[in-house]
Amino acid sequence: MTKTTTALLATSLVASTLLADGVVLVQKTERDVTKLTPTSKAWEYVKATTIHLYPQTALVMNDKRANELNKNTKAKEARVKAIHDDKNIAFLLEWPDGTRSIQSGYKSDVYADGFAVQFPVNYKDPKKLPYIGMGSDGRPVVIHLQKAVEKIYEPNGNGDVSMQQNVLSKNAFGDSAVEFVQKVGALAVKDYQRSFVSEGFRSMTEIKDGSEKFDADMSYSDNVWRGTLTRPLKDSYLNLKGAFPVAFAVWDGARLNRDGQKLLSGWTAVKLVDSNGGEKLVAELTAAAKGDPEHGKELIEQNGCTGCHHISGLSAANYMAPGLDNVGGYSTSAYLRESLVDPNAVVVPGYNRNAHPSALWYNLDHGKRVSTMPPYPLDDKSLDDMVAYLKTLKSEVK
Ligand code: HEC
Repeated sequence: MTKTTTALLATSLVASTLLADGVVLVQKTERDVTKLTPTSKAWEYVKATTIHLYPQTALVMNDKRANELNKNTKAKEARVKAIHDDKNIAFLLEWPDGTRSIQSGYKSDVYADGFAVQFPVNYKDPKKLPYIGMGSDGRPVVIHLQKAVEKIYEPNGNGDVSMQQNVLSKNAFGDSAVEFVQKVGALAVKDYQRSFVSEGFRSMTEIKDGSEKFDADMSYSDNVWRGTLTRPLKDSYLNLKGAFPVAFAVWDGARLNRDGQKLLSGWTAVKLVDSNGGEKLVAELTAAAKGDPEHGKELIEQNGCTGCHHISGLSAANYMAPGLDNVGGYSTSAYLRESLVDPNAVVVPGYNRNAHPSALWYNLDHGKRVSTMPPYPLDDKSLDDMVAYLKTLKSEVK
């Protein structure tokens, strides 16, 4: 056996014992990964990891129709692939969606399907990751967002090119009409491809200075969306090496998904196979909850959690606090534990003050948010049990 084969075998053995389900393993390629599109054949050779996307049920939105449409939303199973070339990394996300919703022009009554990929700016301590979905005070995330929109070239304020130019009117314009459409198509910008740095819902700041270079694309066929994201492994915001967390969100335009209404994954470990480090993070993000969920459920009823929080089957819908029905799907065990012992560490962003002015989630103390949830500094075993129960709170997969 050659030295390299032995080394290779050793790495794969380490990889297989260390890495449980749910790790996105990223191989290196000699090819330029920024060239990859959702329909590139090369993706066929990249191994997929199954992840789950849970309905964001923590927040109640203002839009009654949207709330109604999203009442019984189930979780979705999605597939992730990733590959890097030392400079850039490319992700492919595949998720089912029975309706193709495209936003065209400036019709604001149509919501587009879309997806987002987000990364914590700092992921050194896997027990202190940002709030999932939009980051939190002092724990920023970089979010790349792509919505399914018609290509827009907008020289004169009349909206979509397709609305302005009729290719069938060839008689009137001759070949120049076709040429015009082609030129315009090539110039077209994909609207709604944006990057944000965010420390919570109200603090999303769009990165407009071009310093966050990324490209994203979407393609729909057979009731499945395929979305790609390519971005540098390293830039002024992020330094992705070893292993790092990533989270995905998808919007369903047919269900009027926008803003907080979406399905999202938990923090998922991504491991660059040829780069050292990150074992702690991978272990943390793939570990099963270790407590006794039955006992945890009893504790949660005894401790009055359901007086503020909605948990289906345990308490009525209320707006005192984030709904917990999917909290186990998109939260890590460490995050849930931290929520109990130190509610101020992450104050859930996105609280809807208009809808629930009398049930504050937090008060402001010199500009800092102070949670209205009391801390529960219980013994280790009780905390483990409660976390184990909270981890069971998630919608079934459709
Ligand atoms: C007085 C009302 C109140 C009680 C009682 C209460 N909470 Fe909370 N809880 C909140 C509020 C408000 C928030 C949102 C602000 C924050 O992040 O602390 C919250 C946040 C949370 C979160 C984070 C939710 C998310 O979407 O990320 C979890 C988990 C949680 N609570 C669990 C519990 C458990 C378990 C108990 C009982 C041991 C409990 N809470 C008791 C009000 C309460």
